[in-house]
Amino acid sequence: MVIGIPKEIKNNESRVGMTPAGVLELVQKGHTVYVQTGAGLGSGFTDGDYKKVGAHILDTIGQVYAISEMIVKVKEPIAEEYGMVQKNQIVFTYFHFASSLQLTEAMMESKAICIAYETVEESDGSLPLLTPMSEVAGRMAIQQGAKYLEKPKKGRGVLLGGVPGVPPGRVLVLGAGVVGIQAAKMAAGLGAHVTILDINMKRLRYVNDVMPPHVVTEFSNEFNIRKHVATHDLIVGGVLVKGGRAPKLITRDMLKLMHPGAVIVDVAVDQGGCVETSHPTTHEDPVFIIDDVVHYCVANMPGAVPYTSTLALTNVTLPYVLELADKGWEAACADNPCLNKGLNIIRGEVVHDGIAEAFGFDEKWVV
Ligand SMILES: NC(=O)c1ccc[n+]([C@@H]2O[C@H](COP(=O)([O-])OP(=O)(O)OC[C@H]3O[C@@H](n4cnc5c(N)ncnc54)[C@H](O)[C@@H]3O)[C@@H](O)[C@H]2O)c1
Repeated sequence: MVIGIPKEIKNNESRVGMTPAGVLELVQKGHTVYVQTGAGLGSGFTDGDYKKVGAHILDTIGQVYAISEMIVKVKEPIAEEYGMVQKNQIVFTYFHFASSLQLTEAMMESKAICIAYETVEESDGSLPLLTPMSEVAGRMAIQQGAKYLEKPKKGRGVLLGGVPGVPPGRVLVLGAGVVGIQAAKMAAGLGAHVTILDINMKRLRYVNDVMPPHVVTEFSNEFNIRKHVATHDLIVGGVLVKGGRAPKLITRDMLKLMHPGAVIVDVAVDQGGCVETSHPTTHEDPVFIIDDVVHYCVANMPGAVPYTSTLALTNVTLPYVLELADKGWEAACADNPCLNKGLNIIRGEVVHDGIAEAFGFDEKWVV
């Protein structure tokens, strides 16, 4: 199969859909890979790195779309790419169709085969192509939180690890899912005291089993959250209610209970945020302050660490890319129910109930 890797042109997106390691595997299996010049630079890969493993370099994004049977990328095509997507072309990327009617209609019109990373789903309900980005965001939450706790960044001036004779900082983690556990692990590693809350006892039991004793689990409810916001320096929001908006666990009035200069990192801001006063921010302008509480609410945290994020993403996408390239999308999706769930739009028809519901389309399933 002919596979194309365009450069991401969405604002501030430095990741790339495939690393040279991925190209090598495809080329060894007899596939042809075209990479747009400079596509990997933001993630630390030069054209020369790709050439060495057998990729062909093309000058323009238009050439990559025109020649490829399958496009592998990171973010959804943006408006200037809509016209480049070809009929019957496989496009394998994050789409998040339900959040954009314009994108959905454009991809329907293109008559392409749109397979979305975010809806590829394992039999246990987990989302293997979203997990690595949550892992990155969870770990980054502590790095960012520690930075914004510093006085010159308008924080409280607390060092998370403390020092001999001075108690460590206190970190409250809301949600013991992928983001929450990674955040708790990083905070614990720095020596901070960690309290982690969830409504799922299985998750809390797991955390209790694997984490050191200075990570304390507690059931998530308003009473406990109110109690803890007053005594913690850094709060990480990592809750998710599948298919819904995040619950507002920290309400505006609770900010008054917090230490001035305390920091909230609301990782869940991409699903509306679990803090009433959150709104999405960017890496250029990541924080704002309300009632003396610093809010960090960047909606695409992994974008700041593209080298790590690209490797983490492509580690998990490559096996699916290989299946699609080897078998074609129809056989690959028929053989692999997990990948089949990734099918969102097939030649103009919406085949995923989430998008159909979001826009009131008639849903048509592929069997
Ligand atoms: N900002 C970013 O750049 C970025 C990056 C990756 C993920 N995210 C977001 O982070 C959020 C968490 O993702 P995840 O992969 O960890 O999800 P996850 O499903 O692994 O974990 C979510 C956890 O929240 C818990 N939860 C639900 N309601 C709760 C409540 N009332 N109190 C406490 N816990 C509750 C669930 O039981 C679950 O354990 C999602 O909204 C995701 O989209 C954001």
